[in-house]
Amino acid sequence: MNAATTTQPAWQALLTHYRDIGSMHLREFFAADPQRGARLNVQAAGLYLDYSKNRIDADTIGLLAELARDCGLEQRIAAMFRGDPVNTTERRAALHTALRAPAGRPLWRDGVDIVAQVHDQLDRMAHFSEQIRDGHWLGHTNRRIRHVINIGIGGSDLGPVMAYEALRHYSQREIDLRFVSNVDGTALAEATRGLDAGETLFIVCSKSFRTRETLCNAHAARAWSLRQLHTPNSTARHFAAVSANTEATAAFGINPEQTFALWDWVGGRYSLASAIGLSTMIAIGPAHFRDMLAGMRAMDEHFLQEPVEHNMPALLGLLAVWNNDFLGASTQAVLPYEQYLTRLPAYLQQLTMESNGKHVTRAGLPVRANTSPIVWGEPGTNGQHSFFQLLHQGTRQVPCDFIGFGQSLNPSTASGDQPDNPHDLLMANLFAQAQALAFGKTAAEWRAEGVDDALVAHHVLPGNHPSNTILARKLTPHTLGALVAMYEHSVFTQGVIWDIDSFDQWGVELGKVLADQTVKELAGPDLADTRHDSSTRTLIRRYRQLNEVLP
Ligand code: F6P
Repeated sequence: MNAATTTQPAWQALLTHYRDIGSMHLREFFAADPQRGARLNVQAAGLYLDYSKNRIDADTIGLLAELARDCGLEQRIAAMFRGDPVNTTERRAALHTALRAPAGRPLWRDGVDIVAQVHDQLDRMAHFSEQIRDGHWLGHTNRRIRHVINIGIGGSDLGPVMAYEALRHYSQREIDLRFVSNVDGTALAEATRGLDAGETLFIVCSKSFRTRETLCNAHAARAWSLRQLHTPNSTARHFAAVSANTEATAAFGINPEQTFALWDWVGGRYSLASAIGLSTMIAIGPAHFRDMLAGMRAMDEHFLQEPVEHNMPALLGLLAVWNNDFLGASTQAVLPYEQYLTRLPAYLQQLTMESNGKHVTRAGLPVRANTSPIVWGEPGTNGQHSFFQLLHQGTRQVPCDFIGFGQSLNPSTASGDQPDNPHDLLMANLFAQAQALAFGKTAAEWRAEGVDDALVAHHVLPGNHPSNTILARKLTPHTLGALVAMYEHSVFTQGVIWDIDSFDQWGVELGKVLADQTVKELAGPDLADTRHDSSTRTLIRRYRQLNEVLP
């Protein structure tokens, strides 16, 4: 938010509005409008969003929509879909929506139809995936591939691992997928433990093919593979790559036939629909992968076409701004009541915080409001037995996104031995938590139930904690695609309001440079006077002592 935006009438109107309604309780909002729960919801691409448990009244959405219009949200959405350089600091487009555009709807960039390019890659991916899945692809020792290990970090890991876990139900179980991201050697050691290299395919995913962690792991993986397969030309049958840097993949020795393209207009954290999703496609098959793209596309079209007031991702983004900047909530919990979505919070952390954790506007001026909330979460009901205490009775306001499904992918019915239907129990917990957070329970209510006076204060749940509830019939590839695109566009909406570049990530660079310098010092001779501060210097010395192998 630049000074001009915070002083603009729509922002000021929201401040005044917050002064008017900020002290109202969700109990009062619901009492004032008995139809609120039936009214404040929106549907898109198979998803249902109930946003009635936000601390808003009948005017709030209109005022937020006004702010969105003043910030040019509609034009900015159009610019993004068109391929304008919306990533201003890197002068790049952010065209992840083109990754799921239908074949035959061209989008031209520098005389090239990038949608046709995308579909070419999808066809190549499908061909390769099918070969792996049906066993036609044989390794160096003429054995079929049974283990696929994705090596990548950040967007080259979090999307694929999240989607694989989410869609595991649809996966071909004979192929075992593993993910190595951390440069900690333990990650690769454990991922490869006990595997036959002749049955193992590594997919090295790195848009830049320069990320130190990924290259270090890729080299270690190749060394592991060669220790079993002995001949360097075995790499051709056991390594694939996804990258925009095909010179580097070739230099690494990966066969161009197994190298899949990425483009500079795809941001790492927005790349799940690209060839970065190759491991997911191998797991679930090309048809399911295309269903996921269709879900994304359905949400893209909704985002592009619907007015803000009925636009699911835009509403979600604007409510996030409302909670963050007006209510002062600094974190945002994502609580999927679906075990398969176990990695969704981690995926959304990168998507949200790497995109919108910025301190200057697109013009480089200080942002005057708080930008991205801190995103965190765990699947329910596990979280209920660890951190929900703080949500209910802590001193902070933590808006929550609850995500649940009408049907379980592993249904079981209640029986004599098992009185509860597990899925009903799961969803009852979701509804109960959102209700308890919103409405709480007062001292008078506890007293009426006979709670000892001395304990009443400890029992009280203040309530008034905002939440969204997102429901869908079943977790399918299509639903997952819609969910991912919904969050992508919500993040974009927030970035537009704060007037920041949601597609760069300059903040991660300094740490990389310092680590590159430091790693040489850890292995080389002790440098008495380094450039480091006294703390880092002392820590490095201590590390070197601890690292010495004692006789
Ligand atoms: O360091 C951050 C980052 O650049 C992320 O934005 C990206 O997803 C990740 O590193 C991995 O980058 P690459 O795919 O180029 O290896």
